[in-house]
Amino acid sequence: MTKYAKLTIDGKEIELPIIEGVDGDKGIDIRLLRQKTGFITYDPGYGNTGSCKSAITYMDGERGILRYRGIPIEDLAEHSSFVETSYLLINGELPTRDELNRTSVQLNDHSLVHEDMQNFYQHFPRGSHPMGILSAMVNALRSFYPELLNTDEGFEQTFLRLLSKVRTMAALSYKISRGHRVEYPRPDYTYCANFLNMMFNTPVKPYMVRKELVRALNVFWILHADHEQNCSTAVVRSVGSAQTNIYASISAGVSALWGYLHGGANQAVIQMLSEIHEKGVKIEDVIKRAKDKNDPFRLMGFGHRVYKTYDPRAKIMKKNCHEVLNRLNYQDPLLDIALELEQIATSDPYFNDHNLYPNVDFYSGIMLRAMGIPTNMFTVMFAIGRLPGWIAQWRENMTDPEQRLARPRQVYTGYAPRPYIPIEDREPVEC
Ligand code: SDX
Repeated sequence: MTKYAKLTIDGKEIELPIIEGVDGDKGIDIRLLRQKTGFITYDPGYGNTGSCKSAITYMDGERGILRYRGIPIEDLAEHSSFVETSYLLINGELPTRDELNRTSVQLNDHSLVHEDMQNFYQHFPRGSHPMGILSAMVNALRSFYPELLNTDEGFEQTFLRLLSKVRTMAALSYKISRGHRVEYPRPDYTYCANFLNMMFNTPVKPYMVRKELVRALNVFWILHADHEQNCSTAVVRSVGSAQTNIYASISAGVSALWGYLHGGANQAVIQMLSEIHEKGVKIEDVIKRAKDKNDPFRLMGFGHRVYKTYDPRAKIMKKNCHEVLNRLNYQDPLLDIALELEQIATSDPYFNDHNLYPNVDFYSGIMLRAMGIPTNMFTVMFAIGRLPGWIAQWRENMTDPEQRLARPRQVYTGYAPRPYIPIEDREPVEC
């Protein structure tokens, strides 16, 4: 491969170095572009812009490939656990048995939330969205726990604290929103089993933790654990680049994930499928609206900035969804609608021409619904899964010697210079 890209502007040619990554990843280093030419680049949404070099996750959007630290997502979903995959993403290697056992013990040690934090939940208005609560409470963690990032041991304690407490906080939020007694984590339960128990166990109806659902939740969170420089991860890196503490950086990531174009799509998919089911909306009409340029409606759970083929996670999620519904003997008409939607859309020229296929959010909500997770908590479930990825990416950004304060430029298109007009001389603007 050539070492330089040549750019000619107004007859002047400059050379820009080529950066080569692994498996064909490559980039043009434009760090000296403005200094050499006075020009910046223009790329709304950063579809063609690399913000960093990263060794954490590899995606190939054309071939539908996703690997965490080089290991295919299919192998991790089949053989790993969420805690083991979190360790891999954050530390770069799969843990030994001793390392995994030590991590599990430490996650248990960090699983309680400061009792004073429970008061915070009581004062959110009833009906507050769990993502808004989660973002606020993750930020509040900094008020209760020190940030010990100046040593490897300190960082390890901080990431274990976040991984364990955010899961507990999510279940706590649900219980308090229902006016139910809070369930505490148990030392004899694994990470995922503890979450299910904290969510659904009650004094009058003990919750039976089913190993199939624990396995399904492990797979769900493994599939969501990282995804290179997606919107919320880019936010976590950007906030961290200002030397902001990890809790505030993750809190910002939770806020970015909330949007329905991003992590909020899993809730939006269920709302779309429910509307079709409850209002008898024809699938043909939904497809028609999705294709109509004049209609802002988008087919939720379809399309992706990077994947121009079937999202590899969606394939696994669809299989996971079928398995959970079969195990629970749970018939959901929304699954039938989703399957029909996928069949019609993926054979429609508009969706083929635009490379629009199901993404991770298309089937995930149907599985969560069957497990009893309330719809407004679906994106919280996504956030818990994404946490190890955010932590790993934040740390990589903070320790990358090439990284600087994130501060994009712009092409100004406003007024040319003009004088200040005293208010007594200003004409009312015609509306
Ligand atoms: C996630 O980045 C990540 O990795 C994210 C994520 C992760 O793990 O972090 O994978 C998680 O966010 C998955 C995506 C969840 N969002 C949705 O399901 C919402 C529906 N999808 C779309 O809004 C859209 O596909 C995006 C936002 C996901 C991606 O949009 P892009 O890359 O900005 O593309 P675009 O909006 O510019 O669309 C390109 C064309 C347009 O048509 P033209 O004007 O070129 O003719 O494709 C069309 C769009 O109208 N299009 C769709 C569509 N998605 C794109 N048309 C109908 N339905 C859709 N869903």
